[in-house]
Amino acid sequence: MLWRKKEKSIVAKRLPDHIGIIMDGNGRWAKKRGLPRSAGHKAGASNFRKITKYCSKIGIKYLTVYAFSTENWSRPEEEINYLMRLFEQYLKEALSDFEQENIKVLFLGDKTVFSDNLQKLIDEVEKSSQKNTGMVLNIAMNYGGRQEITEAIKKIAVELESNKLKIKNINEKLVSEYLYTAGQPDPDLIIRPSGELRLSNFLLWQGAYSELVFFNVLWPDFSERDLNRALNQYVSRNRRFGGI
Ligand code: IPE
Ligand code: IPE
Ligand code: MG
Repeated sequence: MLWRKKEKSIVAKRLPDHIGIIMDGNGRWAKKRGLPRSAGHKAGASNFRKITKYCSKIGIKYLTVYAFSTENWSRPEEEINYLMRLFEQYLKEALSDFEQENIKVLFLGDKTVFSDNLQKLIDEVEKSSQKNTGMVLNIAMNYGGRQEITEAIKKIAVELESNKLKIKNINEKLVSEYLYTAGQPDPDLIIRPSGELRLSNFLLWQGAYSELVFFNVLWPDFSERDLNRALNQYVSRNRRFGGI
């Protein structure tokens, strides 16, 4: 593996504890092959399983994947329906992966809009993997960074109103505790395949100092080698956090 060759420098510059991935490019992957967009989503889901296992194997502590945004509801109904069915199928199939790999799964986003069936599955996956002590896998589904911050503001306002919280106690640490990622470290590295150079509402608060790596590869083709390349880029970066 590429980054292993640089083992010495990695000791000084550690691998990221937390990686975020914007799983983009499924539609274009399918179009290139003359297939319907759904085929791209299917291939993307299968790659998601592969990359998740790989991250767990190499010792990544937190992996956050962007699976469906609050803006993706603007897609044609047929595509949304397909994606919802795919999420159900994926979650059923991946349950065994989570057990085998000791992965703890959390869902980031508003779950209440999903079908009863999908909500039940989400609960089941979260509950059954809760005790797992390996990698934490955050699946961002119906997730939007702005929606997350708005919800946090509402929750904080309720606490203020009921005098459980005082204005002087509101600080950045407290705000973080009202986000879906409460208690987790911020992502060190955010990877976006597909060639688009934007965040598309992903981890807006948490990504303040994340290193960004963009790839001109469509998500279903994004391989373990590509992940190693991203890790190599990450270890060569100089993270300053505003310092010198
Ligand atoms: C990402 O792939 C999957 C979701 C957003 C659900 P896209 O469906 O956005 O694929 P492109 O960007 O159209 O190629
Ligand atoms: C971001 O991809 C959301 C996910 C990958 C789930 P989009 O395809 O929705 O982003 P835009 O529309 O290109 O910004
Ligand atoms: Mg896209």
